Amino acid sequence: RKDVGILAMDIYFPSACVQQESLEVFDGASKGKYTIGLGQDCMAFCTELEDVISMSLTVTTSLLEKYHIDPKQIGRLEVGSETVIDKSKSIKTWLMKIFEECGNSDIEGVDSTNACYGGTAALLNCVNWVESSSWDGRYGLVICTDSAVYAEGPARPTGGAAAVAMLIGPHAPITFESKYRGTHMSHVYDFYKPILASEYPVVDGKLSQTCYLMALDLCYKRYRDKYEKFEGKPFSLSEADSFVFHSPYNKLVQKSFARLYFNDFLQNSSLVDKDARAKLEPFTNLIGDESYQNRDLEKASQQLSKKLYDAKVQSSTLIPKQVGNMYTASLYAALASVLHNKHGSLDGERIVMFSYGSGLASTMFSFKLHDGQHPFSLSNIASVLNVAGKLESRHEFLPEKFIETMQLMEHRYGAKDFVTSKDTSLLSPGTFYLTHVDSMYRRYYLKK
Ligand code: ACO
Repeated sequence: RKDVGILAMDIYFPSACVQQESLEVFDGASKGKYTIGLGQDCMAFCTELEDVISMSLTVTTSLLEKYHIDPKQIGRLEVGSETVIDKSKSIKTWLMKIFEECGNSDIEGVDSTNACYGGTAALLNCVNWVESSSWDGRYGLVICTDSAVYAEGPARPTGGAAAVAMLIGPHAPITFESKYRGTHMSHVYDFYKPILASEYPVVDGKLSQTCYLMALDLCYKRYRDKYEKFEGKPFSLSEADSFVFHSPYNKLVQKSFARLYFNDFLQNSSLVDKDARAKLEPFTNLIGDESYQNRDLEKASQQLSKKLYDAKVQSSTLIPKQVGNMYTASLYAALASVLHNKHGSLDGERIVMFSYGSGLASTMFSFKLHDGQHPFSLSNIASVLNVAGKLESRHEFLPEKFIETMQLMEHRYGAKDFVTSKDTSLLSPGTFYLTHVDSMYRRYYLKK
């Protein structure tokens, strides 16, 4: 099968958001801690009307409508999420309502869960299916959705919420380079959700940062090795036009790209010039943890790679900085940002993606881009995504209101027998919302 990959895409994020600058003041954090220290501008969140089921229903319906896809043409539907609602019951089963109404219950796939990696697992499953002998000629559909919320404390400003939908099939404008994949998986307790009565994770923030960077190093090495084996030439940052990272907060993305640059230096890549080489030389012999904790190395490599960061990373950071960590959807919201910012100039370009989910699972892979043909063209995808329009029509909440919502949601988590607010004025037309949960914990949604 030729050029299997992403044919079409859509994104949804809640209109409710809180400015990081006002959250800094409210939390009594030092000025710039969230905006510069974490590199975040704004954070979206679900009010009592929304959750991962409603966001998935919204984004799935929207993609099918906007690209005129008959629901009968979907043969596999995979959901990546780490937001737990009915535990044993997949979010995928909820989405079946859309397809059953059109007479299609013949759809493979269920949910994939491992922190922020589930979306990538779902994507790999769909791509593999289309490339396999069990493919029946229909489309695959991947939904990545999460509501990322943290208990009070330093992790709280790294929340966010969204759902991304991706249609998978052959002759795609965003083609998967299946041969080049580097994976690293390992057992660590950096972030997990052992408290089933709470939506909040247990997180060892510092450990998760180091695990992320170690996983990045290993995946980059394995990706490079595969690339060299098939292409017969070494890989360096100059072989790709964009690098897109899972983005818990932007500062980690800045550090990640600098880390790839340092890896290129260690590989004697000609990308690193003589001056830069001299500046990085003192760090050559740092081993293991030392190299992840060294502030001077971090600073030097970030400064030296700044120009390349602006050229190859900046365009992917728009939605993650504005919406926050969307867990499984974060990497694909970053990809959507590239399509939004650069759709007119991506033909022939390569995009390298790094997916990380705590616990841990990580993969580096890449796409080759082609302009494509309507409706599956990069320009049409950018117009359906309507990123600027969606960001502009958001509703800003004051921190007090955000905290109030978090408290209500804590109370509602795992609860039964409640109805939600009748005020849906903040939702745009076509948005699904939760109306009530009955005495058997069954949930009910309507479409605005
Ligand atoms: N102005 C500018 N920068 C500042 C300021 C200020 N006033 N105050 C602090 N900073 C900087 C710090 O120097 C630091 O930057 P650095 O890393 O470049 O040194 C940064 O702000 C963060 O501050 P810290 O005190 O180091 O960390 P904090 O206690 O705020 O916690 C953390 C940050 C660990 C990221 C926390 O938010 C967290 O646990 N988040 C969830 C875990 C996470 O996202 N992990 C990433 C991978 S796993 C996943 O995706 C869930």
